[in-house]
Amino acid sequence: MTRDTWQVFDFAATLEKVRPFTMVPTEALVDLARQVQAVLTCGIPGDFVECGVWRGGAAFLMADLLRQAGVRDRKVWLFDSFEGLPPPEEIDGPAATEYVKNTDGPWYFDNCRVSLEEVQRTARGLGLASYTELVKGWFNQTLPAYRQRIGPIAILRIDCDWYASVRCCLDNLFDQVVDGGFVIFDDYYTFEGCAIAVHEFLGERRLSHRLESVVGRSKGYTCYVSAVLRKGNASWYDLRQWLDRRDLALQDIAALIPTEDAFILIDQETLRGELGAARQAIPFLERDGHYWGPPPDDDTAIGELERLRQSGARYAVFAWPAFWWLDHYAGLRRYLRSNFPCVVENDRLIVFDLR
Ligand SMILES: C[S@@+](CC[C@H](N)C(=O)[O-])C[C@H]1O[C@@H](n2cnc3c(N)ncnc32)[C@H](O)[C@@H]1O
Repeated sequence: MTRDTWQVFDFAATLEKVRPFTMVPTEALVDLARQVQAVLTCGIPGDFVECGVWRGGAAFLMADLLRQAGVRDRKVWLFDSFEGLPPPEEIDGPAATEYVKNTDGPWYFDNCRVSLEEVQRTARGLGLASYTELVKGWFNQTLPAYRQRIGPIAILRIDCDWYASVRCCLDNLFDQVVDGGFVIFDDYYTFEGCAIAVHEFLGERRLSHRLESVVGRSKGYTCYVSAVLRKGNASWYDLRQWLDRRDLALQDIAALIPTEDAFILIDQETLRGELGAARQAIPFLERDGHYWGPPPDDDTAIGELERLRQSGARYAVFAWPAFWWLDHYAGLRRYLRSNFPCVVENDRLIVFDLR
């Protein structure tokens, strides 16, 4: 089911709410929030799963966005030993050995040990208990036992540090991630074992999914904070760019055009569904309030534009997927440019004031 996600999400409030319960860097959390938004906007089916939850913050971020969007037909699964990390192996590399030795280090957190009861209490305190399901135990036992029950997965977040754990998650759950769904590797750049498990798994299966990096900043330096792949070789970067552009275009419209003003919207149906029922966005061409197809020629386009203007349309809004109109209908472009001020012109919208 697709959702009107632009208007319902308050990312900042969610980030603030979950921040005390996660060690995941903010940039990676923002990326995760956008993935949840992408899943809901594009109707990518499936539940959300996090393997390795610690205090639960990243999983709670996904759950809080479901709550905000009023989504009741998905949930977030939280898998963890709730007894901390198992010991690393040689394959996990020197950073893993260092982590285990450095018990006074700022990232040791008692070997990531947090009890099930504590995470359950947090879920209740945040009002997210009914959006989450917590499963206690070692992955090699819990994942095979639960994978049938989970069913299709839209987002699989793997945050369990070591080679054996990452490999176990992929072996058990990767096949359930749907086409277009996301697999996130939180430790891909941190621990060698995680990267080896990812490449080994993809190589053995002869899968060509591309990994994309999520970039953050730390102490003034750019650094990689996680890696993500989309099943089906669809690019997350491209989809995220599209979502960013769409959200900015919707903000532009909200800032420029008062809610009560009718306007012509030429958008290849990119924005209309997200504008909300209160908005009077007239399709073009229009008959009885419905889209009637593109105009056959410039004269029809200009005639129809004038008809709508006389009946109260105050702006003509072209969204970027329909920018080609202004090349194709050169007569319409000349008519608009010579008769009406262009009040917005950026990479997402061109708006003429018809008043
Ligand atoms: C780095 S922490 C997770 C951080 C968390 N996602 C967050 O938002 O801050 C890693 C977690 O993975 C769990 N873990 C690692 N390997 C595991 C395994 N094989 N089975 C169960 N839990 C495991 C640990 O108990 C720990 O809570």
